[in-house]
Parts: sequence; structure tokens; C-alpha cells
Amino acid sequence: MTSFYLSTPYEPPQAPFKLPLDEPWALFGEISPNQFMARYWHKKPLLVRGAVPAFKLSSSQGALLDSPIPAKELLKFALLDEVESRLVRSKPWSFESGPFFKKQIPNIEKPNWTMLFQGMEAHHPAAAKILSWFRFIPDARLDDLMVSIAGVGGGVGPHFDSYDVFLIQMSGRRRWRISEQQDLSLNPHLPLKILQNFKPEQEWILEPGDMLYLPPHVAHDGVALDAGCQTWSVGFRSPSFKELLQEGLWRLAESLEDIPELENKFADPKQKATHFAEQLPDELIKQLKLKLQDLKLDRIDSFLPGITAYLSEPKQQAIFSPPATPCSAEEFKKMLQSQMLIPHPQTRILSLGKKVYCNGENMCEEQDLPSVKAWQILAGRKQLKAKNLKNLENSTLFEAYLAGWLIFHD
Ligand code: SIN
Ligand code: CO
Repeated sequence: MTSFYLSTPYEPPQAPFKLPLDEPWALFGEISPNQFMARYWHKKPLLVRGAVPAFKLSSSQGALLDSPIPAKELLKFALLDEVESRLVRSKPWSFESGPFFKKQIPNIEKPNWTMLFQGMEAHHPAAAKILSWFRFIPDARLDDLMVSIAGVGGGVGPHFDSYDVFLIQMSGRRRWRISEQQDLSLNPHLPLKILQNFKPEQEWILEPGDMLYLPPHVAHDGVALDAGCQTWSVGFRSPSFKELLQEGLWRLAESLEDIPELENKFADPKQKATHFAEQLPDELIKQLKLKLQDLKLDRIDSFLPGITAYLSEPKQQAIFSPPATPCSAEEFKKMLQSQMLIPHPQTRILSLGKKVYCNGENMCEEQDLPSVKAWQILAGRKQLKAKNLKNLENSTLFEAYLAGWLIFHD
């Protein structure tokens, strides 16, 4: 155990803005992101030894690297309301949600428990930096970084996830067993989603710096072999078509409010006398069809703004607070010339062509060109310093700053 206290935390680097997509990366076992996407992504598991070379490098020099968030610091997040935490015990299986009191947090030397911390990119800069390594996958797909810490024997049991995941071993060792079995039935008697017939096909012991990529629906079971074992999971999301279409249609319906001519009543001067009075009139159907075409409601482009807005919504648990001492629009403009404006870690920004959506809202509506450009830079680079902005009184950039969605980097 003493080694944990003597080791230094690994400091992950921020990935460069322009990622070398065609070059071999240690993270993927010396293949490029392009090759990884073509061969493995959403297709088959990949085990990478020494994916984070710093761990092996430092141990070969006699130094020990700990997780970027050492155990003591990590466990403190379990006390906080704003952090989504869970405690899973494995003998017998039990499950509790946080926040926890100090005395509920298990001693690291005790066996058969794990604590999981969701959305850590919002709470620790090292977690945000690890996510930056994966920014060759669209922001709309990236979900969050979960960190788990466990006592010996701890884990969440054999299960499957519906999403892709990169499991990076950051402290201690974990034994992973995986299976591409078809039978994904769950044990109905347990409080957790645990497979009732897990039949492992492959097994590895992951050491700090190793990484396992799993596509959706591959059964897996990770058991901690050392006290304080930490696994960092980069998780993705993939909404169902039902969710995408419902959310897109709902927002499209809302946008019709802004078209006054739609208040006009349907009129049928061409209606003929009919024997089939019970039928919906052909004339109504014909006019509706024309209206849909006129408004381009029969085209995919009409749905995409609503869908992008939806996907840019922050997680439900996200909390934004306005700056402690908000500045005036004029001061904001000056600060933008010397300081870096960045999205709050829980802010989501997505682009659709030249339009930028932030936390569910279109930021480019009724904005001048320099402001639109500024949003485009923020969306792409996740940081902005700007000299050429003019009047910021009615700018969505200033509004987003006042709402706490954008913050100045210290
Ligand atoms: C863990 O870190 O223990 C669980 C990660 C997973 O299986 O998805
Ligand atoms: Co899993």
C-alpha cells in the first residue's frame, strides 16, 4: 500500500487541437485513429498494452506513477451533491447512490466494493484532458468520463453496456474477462444489471497504462486485483432514432410558432359535393402536402437544427452558476482580448454547418458576423481570445458568460 503514497500522480497532457489522424498512436497500439476507426470502432474489442506509455516508462526508471486523481482525493468526491457517485458491493451484491457521508465510504484495504464517479471531466481537469485525446470522435457521440476505484475483489459484476467504452487502467491491476456471447439475459433477482449466464472467452490482467476498448454489447467483467484499483472509462452515447426524431419533431413543431401565415385558415372553394362525407377531404390533403413542401417540412434539413439543439443539451445534473462578480458588456469585450474564454466543463457545444448550438440553444440567431465566427472558434477549439468583436450588448457570447456557460480560464 505504501507505494500509493510515495508515487506521483500522472499528469495527462491536453491533446493538440489538430490531432494527427493518420499517424500511429501508442494509445491504440501503434495504429492511427483512422485505422482504429476502420478496424475496431463499433466492431471488435482491442487490448492495448502500454496505451499510456508514461506508466511503463516511469516504472522502468524506478519511479511509480499513481492515477491522476489519487485515492484519497478521489474518494472525497463521494461526499459532494454535485457529483454522481455510486457504491457497489459484491459479496453479496448491493447498490447505493451518493452523495455519501464520510463513514459510509469503505476503507481502501477492505475487499469487495467499488465506487463509481460519473462525469468526472466536469470536476477534475485531468479527466477533461483524457477526454481531449478522443476528440477524433464527434462531440455528439462523446458522453463522459467515469472513474471507478475498488478494494480487492471489487467490480460491478459481469454485464454489458449499450455503448462503446475505452477502459483505461490508471492504478493497481484489474482482471478483465470478456465474451461476445449472444445470451445477454440478466439475473432478475439482483439489484444490478448482472448477466445470469456469463461465459468468458478471453481474459487479461490490465496494469496501469493498459487500455481495453469494447464495442457495445460485448459482455465483460472487471475485478480489482489490488486495493485502490482505478479504471477510467471514456463513455459514448448513441440516442435511439425514436429519441432523435421525437426531439427533432417537437422542436420543429415549436418553430412553427414563428410563422404568422400559418394562422391562416384552411379554405376549400374547390370542394365538390361528395357521397363519402366521412372521409378526410382530398382537398385538405392536397393543400397540406403543398404546405409541407413550401415550408420544406418534408426535408431532412428542417429536422437537423432541432436535433442538433437537442444533442447539445447538457446533462440533467449540470449546474451552472453566474460569475461571482459579473462584468459589463464593455469590460467583457476587454477581457476577451487578454484572457481565454472557455466552455464551462458541463457546457456542450455542437455545430451544424456554420450554426453553433450551446446547451440546447442556437447561438447564431440575430448575431453579427464576428460573433458567429467567435462561436465557431469556441465550438471547434473549445477556447476563444478575440480582438475584433464590436458591440457585445446583445451578444449571445456575453449572455452565455453571464449564465455561467462560458468562463474565463485562469
Ligand atoms: C468499472 O470501472 O469497474 C466498470 C466499468 C465498466 O465495466 O464499464
Ligand atoms: Co461496462
